[in-house]
Amino acid sequence: MTHLTAHHRHLSLVVAAILIGPALGIGTAAPATAVSPVPFSKPLVIPRVLSDANITLTAKLADVQILPGAATRMWTYNGTFPGPTIRRPTGTTTTVRLINDLPAAAGALTLHNHGNHSTSENDGQPDAFLAARGGSVTYTYTGTEAGGNERGAFQWYHDHRMNATGRNVWMGLAGMYIIDDPADPKSLPRGGFDVPLMITDRTFDANNQLVYTFNALGVTGNRTLVNGVLQPYFRVADRKYRFRILNASNARPYELALSNGQSFLQIGTESGLLPAPVRRSRITIAPAERVDLVIDFAGRLGQNIVLQNLAVTGSMRQLLQFRVSRDLIETSSVPSKLRPLPALDPSPAAARRIEFGRARIIGTWTINGQPFSPDRIDFRPRLNTTETWTIVNKSGAAHVIHIHDVDQQLVSRNGVAPARYELMKESWTLGIGETIVLKLKFTDNLGTFVYHCHILEHEDASMMAQFEVVP
Ligand code: C2O
Ligand code: CU
Ligand code: CU
Repeated sequence: MTHLTAHHRHLSLVVAAILIGPALGIGTAAPATAVSPVPFSKPLVIPRVLSDANITLTAKLADVQILPGAATRMWTYNGTFPGPTIRRPTGTTTTVRLINDLPAAAGALTLHNHGNHSTSENDGQPDAFLAARGGSVTYTYTGTEAGGNERGAFQWYHDHRMNATGRNVWMGLAGMYIIDDPADPKSLPRGGFDVPLMITDRTFDANNQLVYTFNALGVTGNRTLVNGVLQPYFRVADRKYRFRILNASNARPYELALSNGQSFLQIGTESGLLPAPVRRSRITIAPAERVDLVIDFAGRLGQNIVLQNLAVTGSMRQLLQFRVSRDLIETSSVPSKLRPLPALDPSPAAARRIEFGRARIIGTWTINGQPFSPDRIDFRPRLNTTETWTIVNKSGAAHVIHIHDVDQQLVSRNGVAPARYELMKESWTLGIGETIVLKLKFTDNLGTFVYHCHILEHEDASMMAQFEVVP
């Protein structure tokens, strides 16, 4: 897991930035702020929750107060950053209507429900079913999978427009999405003790406006926000909390740890609950990855505990401060068994080999030796069959492999049996020279899906490909 960190140290040394024209609302001044706010001076904000069956997300400009002084003009869903958290029971149909109310310079939009088992038309394709300026698209999610309910999971939604995802997400087009599942243990912390956290980094100019300069190696910021707030504090009681943590940064990985040396109890990944909780003291979380954690503040009344990012030094190391300021009776518990993994066919129908690589031309990445083309299909898995995909990283940089449509189970990483915290996921860190073997079963959905690196500038610099599920 040190590869990503090494990769990012390397980033700062490389001067290979490719400039794209300043789009509306994107700052172009020197990437520095005059004001350096004191950490932990603002409370954490929990994004508003939408739970209706029919949801409207309007992509529009909004002035968001992030730093002291001028508000930051962002591209938002419904006027906030993060966008509203969508929270829906599994097994029920949800429609999300995306209205594109952004200035024409933003271009057409597409909304991807990341981690969802969506049909091809409803998956937020990068170059099809787009919402033009002034137009809209309605996505339908059935909440079902393989003849049952979709597994409870912490997902997120974001723009997925071809060649512009990095810019669009940086400008604010991202929100969280939770599928609640009655099959998950009910004793886990819930209600106000179940808190989704979106971590992002951004760079602001002297007028507090976002600065985005495309760089095919990845764009990182010099401020860290949790739920859109710069280094917030959060008042907690002396009991267990469930934190669903999403790294929604374009390119930056985080190495999470608590300042008092206390450990986390990891209960889930992108793809829902683990079979059993895993105790961990440091957790690396790459872009698009999620970790579902329980932190127990029992016996810590009066203490301040900081969620840190050990991958960096200095002020950016401080992400979020917990202030244990209330005494409460514990009402939750974490069972020693959470949820078994779905059983997959032991003898896969096909084995594929996929190579993540670097193109000769600077500023382009490849999958299977080729840059992305919406007209190319790499392979055609058959519906209701299981395959193994061996994914190798020959590119000399770390990547985050994200496969749409279905969850994947890890068979091995570098020839070794998987760690107990990465048994089933859909976004995988793949360090330099690493190999992972995944098993995946194609259920319900026919048609075309993308898979790609989730370092958004790698994706925009063509590290994306397609497969088509056929009858
Ligand atoms: Cu989070 Cu293909 O996306
Ligand atoms: Cu996705
Ligand atoms: Cu990559």
